Amino acid sequence: MVERTELWVNRKDLRATKIVNDTTPQLAEGEVLVAIDKFALTANNVSYAVTGDIIGYWQFYPAEGDWGKVPVWGCADVVESNCAELPAGERIYGFFPMSSHAVLRPGNITAEQFMDFAAHRKALPSLYNAYRRTRAEPKAVQDFENERCLLFPLFATSFLIYDYLQYNALFGASQILIGSVSSKTGFGLAKMLFDDPSIGATVIGITSAANREFVQSLGCCHATMVYGEEEQINAQLPTAYIDMSGDGRLTAALHHHLGDQMRASIMVGATHWDQQHKQEELPGAKPEFFFAPSHVQVREKEWGQGVPMTKAMAASMQVTDAIVQIMQVEWLHGAPALQANWVAMLDNKVPASRGLMVALAEQGA
Ligand SMILES: NC(=O)c1ccc[n+]([C@@H]2O[C@H](COP(=O)([O-])OP(=O)(O)OC[C@H]3O[C@@H](n4cnc5c(N)ncnc54)[C@H](OP(=O)(O)O)[C@@H]3O)[C@@H](O)[C@H]2O)c1
Repeated sequence: MVERTELWVNRKDLRATKIVNDTTPQLAEGEVLVAIDKFALTANNVSYAVTGDIIGYWQFYPAEGDWGKVPVWGCADVVESNCAELPAGERIYGFFPMSSHAVLRPGNITAEQFMDFAAHRKALPSLYNAYRRTRAEPKAVQDFENERCLLFPLFATSFLIYDYLQYNALFGASQILIGSVSSKTGFGLAKMLFDDPSIGATVIGITSAANREFVQSLGCCHATMVYGEEEQINAQLPTAYIDMSGDGRLTAALHHHLGDQMRASIMVGATHWDQQHKQEELPGAKPEFFFAPSHVQVREKEWGQGVPMTKAMAASMQVTDAIVQIMQVEWLHGAPALQANWVAMLDNKVPASRGLMVALAEQGA
């Protein structure tokens, strides 16, 4: 048993948090204890909390009463093991709580990965239950450990949307609008579309005034607009809208402006998590929710198991290479710093150019 530090979030009031210090439980047969020395914090984690009851994100690492543990993408070492096939010393990457330690029950163990077979996770999307054994991976991948936590889960989604658009022949669109384009998922998608000459559509990013310069520095859009400038968009062109913001006002404004030329309206995220409201019937295509694990399943039937994520990883590496000098990685050490930045993230006080990495365990960074 070792000392453990966690940040718990109130599921009914996301700004209310508490730091919980305790000791890790005794391991049962087949379980391992992992020390999580790094994880990323982005608006995606806020969305996990916002949709925690609908999609089940609170169920990965249950807490007590109204409290929940927000899942994050991170790296960890196995520090104690009651599982012969996964000994202490292994390095792993995957879905963890905002915590210094976690207990997993490895199953389906191969040289490359394993699943967490904990009973309470069985019904949850399998994508999140898979852990990579990183030492089995090429050195080039191991060298991108921080980027893998901070960027790859989001760029993987960018790739899946990029692929989904092509799978649907861009829905006939000649311009693609991306809402909250300064988000990693947003600019990752913009960059993949912009850098692919076969796409042949104009990419227009929509963002806040504060993040416009950052988006422009990424060289990922043909044009960048600030919220409120939607009237400037050419309403004569068939258009696909990919929304990372979840901002109901923006969605309504774009649908009313474009009318029948809005050929697809794809809701991916909710970075503007407190700006959602029940939507009236809108002109143009009916907004549809995009859930990355569902598109993975579609493509796996055609391409084979694991192939979509391998392609997503390659695309993520390419975008990472192009932007890594522009994104400033900033380390948060200890639970109080995480607590403060969780609230800053909720309050839109983290500029797009700051990529937050967290180290709760002493040896982090
Ligand atoms: N459906 C899926 O399968 C799937 C998968 C992955 C991610 N996503 C979603 O994609 C979205 C982007 O995630 P990310 O991790 O890439 O985001 P991120 O990089 O952390 O996004 C940062 C940007 O989000 C906006 N923002 C952040 N907090 C805000 C707040 N409190 N109020 C208003 N705007 C705020 C700002 O952009 P602007 O100024 O440009 O608005 C900010 O630059 C999330 O909602 C995430 O859940 C969905």
